[in-house]
Amino acid sequence: MQRKLASAVLVIIALVVSAPVLTTQTKAADDQHPWYQHAVFYELYPRSFMDSNGDGIGDLNGIASKLDYLKALGVDAIWITPCFPSPQVDFGYDVSDYENIDPLYGTLADFDRLRKLGEAHGIKIILDFVVNHTSDQHPWFINSRSSRTSDKRNWYIWRDGKGKNPPNNWTSLFGGPAWQWDSATNQYYYHFFYAQQPDLNWRNSAVVAAMYGTSEWWYKRGVSGFRLDAVDTLYEDPNLKDDPVLPGKNAYGDPNLELKYNDKLPEVHAALKGLRTVADKYGAVLIGETWTENVAELKNYYGAGHNELQMPMDLMFTELKFSAPVFRNHIKAVDASGEWPVYVISNHDIVRSWNRYGDGHHNDQIAKDMAAMYLTLRGTPIMYYGEEIGMQNNDPKRREDVKDPIGRRGWPKEKGRDGERTPMQWNGNSHAGFTTGTPWNSVPATYSTYNVADELKDPNSILNWYKGLLALRHTNSALLDGDYIALNENDPNVLSYLRKSRNGAAIVVINMSAAPQKITFDLSARGLSPDSAKTLLTTQASLKENRSVQQLALEPFAVYIAEVKSK
Ligand code: GLC
Repeated sequence: MQRKLASAVLVIIALVVSAPVLTTQTKAADDQHPWYQHAVFYELYPRSFMDSNGDGIGDLNGIASKLDYLKALGVDAIWITPCFPSPQVDFGYDVSDYENIDPLYGTLADFDRLRKLGEAHGIKIILDFVVNHTSDQHPWFINSRSSRTSDKRNWYIWRDGKGKNPPNNWTSLFGGPAWQWDSATNQYYYHFFYAQQPDLNWRNSAVVAAMYGTSEWWYKRGVSGFRLDAVDTLYEDPNLKDDPVLPGKNAYGDPNLELKYNDKLPEVHAALKGLRTVADKYGAVLIGETWTENVAELKNYYGAGHNELQMPMDLMFTELKFSAPVFRNHIKAVDASGEWPVYVISNHDIVRSWNRYGDGHHNDQIAKDMAAMYLTLRGTPIMYYGEEIGMQNNDPKRREDVKDPIGRRGWPKEKGRDGERTPMQWNGNSHAGFTTGTPWNSVPATYSTYNVADELKDPNSILNWYKGLLALRHTNSALLDGDYIALNENDPNVLSYLRKSRNGAAIVVINMSAAPQKITFDLSARGLSPDSAKTLLTTQASLKENRSVQQLALEPFAVYIAEVKSK
């Protein structure tokens, strides 16, 4: 999805050697660190994770059957993308009842069982709260559209047209005008996404109260937090001013717009503070789908008094080029903001990380490099299911095969998001062990080599690399709590840094180039003894017994992580 493009064309452009035994999944939160700062989150697309009943669509009982896998992997919390009743126009992001489970995925009783089982496994449940809009089949909207005097009329954004035209020039992120004519009452309603996803009117206090109430309803059911969908677009300019038009057209043939009047309005922050007040009553966490242009904007989402989102996602990370200086600069800026970073390399809306960062020749090594980086940085990582086995995008080849409506509308420039939402690859059996029926979305041919069962047996697999890293970050106090200290900041190829806490230090060295590299480190200024290294994890067999970090000869794309002692 070209979210970035639409929201800001302005800025265009910007061997597992040893794996410590995992004893506890989440260290008990200490004074300085609330639970979510020491946790590893895992986003899963319920439609595609595991099908328990053979209908070809994943479900809650399927997720429950895989909690052992997730625990062994090192996951502390799962974010389940929307599983509420929905006409499924946007595969669940069009909710018609916020306080139930879609029969496709199971029942509320299945949810309660999953939550309890999660608790027994030390895995918390995060749901996906679609706050910007409902389905056009939600009773609120059905009521709202029924008459201009309906008591829910003002729950959505209704306006007269300008002559025969919509109220203004705003376009939908998913193509075409953002206004839908409704002949029942001869007015237009506003939808930032599909016409079947009318925007809620957050300027109406009844809407705000209903949404806060919904979040509380789930907290009382044991949910540990929400990922808040599309928070950037909660509010619109009440005067509906036209957005400035920018040069060029998007994948749908619409003019590019600067979303000056319907994106990231300051009012969003008041709504987030309100949601946070409710969350705080339950020790819950709020994760934001925050598509920001820069670190300053990202920082705003934490709130000036740290009273908004605890975890606004750094989605800028997903747009960086695989290059040591590029990542170094970004990490430095994020770290300098003083906030607790939330790193993400993939999700259900963007091309999978294996393809996006990969160079076409060394994608498996690059996948290990990316994992080594974002799982050892200061901050909380959010993984995307399948990333840990090197799952690859599988885009539809023909328009008639596309399931995601934006792919049909924008074909061939926009192929939709089916490619990154394919069934989880559990084994080399038919349909990758995801279902005994016919899977709703096609399984990529690569499943015969990239799958959980086979990778578990291979000590050099991407999966075992992830397991080693996750075990390490749960047990190594420097990686959990240490400061981030950049090393060799002018090196164009190798990204190196220390994580240093009162209790110890770890050095992370990642050769982000296809060539061997020789590097030297001077750690004496950091109070560390360069000859005290003890390898924690490396992709390079020759570094397994390495003791000194004064000089390292790295193989292409090598990763070396070691403990270093004070002088
Ligand atoms: C968010 C979701 C995306 C969905 C959209 C509309 O961007 O991540 O999948 O289509 O919101 O709800």
